[in-house]
Amino acid sequence: MQLRVVNAFPNARSISRGSTSLIRRDITIRLPIGWFLSLLETFILPGVQWTEDPKARLYTLVHRGNAGDVAFYTRLAHQRRAILELGAGAGRITAATAAVAQQVVGIEHWEGMLAEAEPMPDNADLLLGDACNFALDTRFDTVVVPYNALFAFGGRDKIIAALRCARAHADDGAKLVFDCYVLNDDDDALLLPVQEELIASIIDNGRRINVYEWESPLPGPRAFQMQYRYEISTTDGKQYSVQDTIAHHWLPPDEMDSVLSAAGWRLDRIEAAFEDRSLQEDDVQMVIRGTAVG
Ligand SMILES: C[S@@+](CC[C@H](N)C(=O)[O-])C[C@H]1O[C@@H](n2cnc3c(N)ncnc32)[C@H](O)[C@@H]1O
Repeated sequence: MQLRVVNAFPNARSISRGSTSLIRRDITIRLPIGWFLSLLETFILPGVQWTEDPKARLYTLVHRGNAGDVAFYTRLAHQRRAILELGAGAGRITAATAAVAQQVVGIEHWEGMLAEAEPMPDNADLLLGDACNFALDTRFDTVVVPYNALFAFGGRDKIIAALRCARAHADDGAKLVFDCYVLNDDDDALLLPVQEELIASIIDNGRRINVYEWESPLPGPRAFQMQYRYEISTTDGKQYSVQDTIAHHWLPPDEMDSVLSAAGWRLDRIEAAFEDRSLQEDDVQMVIRGTAVG
């Protein structure tokens, strides 16, 4: 894997100093306590061996994609010249698509996620940068944003900024494909706070990790946060817990047309993921397809 900082990343100076925590938007507010806690998690807790960023490891263990998404994006990537992936995470889709496309570039803003990535093939690059504000010297014929990543970008304006930036790097006629969960403004029951529940129990490097998740609304429309508590037991009987929060700003299917056209893309179709049919009322995950227009 080659790690390279994308131009115009707002915190490029911090990155060049090699600081992981300073580049994460959510940690900026929590300094110095967040920095201190991650030091504690990384170095002091006995019997625990973490990568540089424990939260990135835990995130990667839990967020493994949706059934069928790797096969879907791999099919799409066949014989594409150049694929741009926004919010690439640890390169799960990047690596799979690079096996069949000529070139793949993934952009991810969380350095810890890139540290989690397996070595990439020669025709794939994972780059550290902000998907809403980057500059590359490559033009792409395909742009993908797998696994709800657009909803993690910070809201409608950020989503438009990311799609505009992608459009500036896309050939005329290039294809845009992304998948997101389906929520509508009248899905009241789904938007209420959800109680904490155990969602996974994972064995990782000799430790058992019980993952608890709960959701609560955030101020402002179409925004909520998923909170995680990881209860970790090591083989020598030690127990401790790590907490993390992920904010999501979602858009309903009927906003996609205006969002894509504000960013220089035409909406072609909204499908049920990952099936070749139109979206229906009960579908929970959608695929959006668009084309770059002038
Ligand atoms: C749900 S994960 C999807 C990861 C990957 N696409 C996959 O399918 O496994 C969303 C990713 O988007 C990243 N992300 C969120 N905002 C971003 C931004 N502004 N620029 C780049 N990456 C961002 C997150 O750090 C996270 O790794």
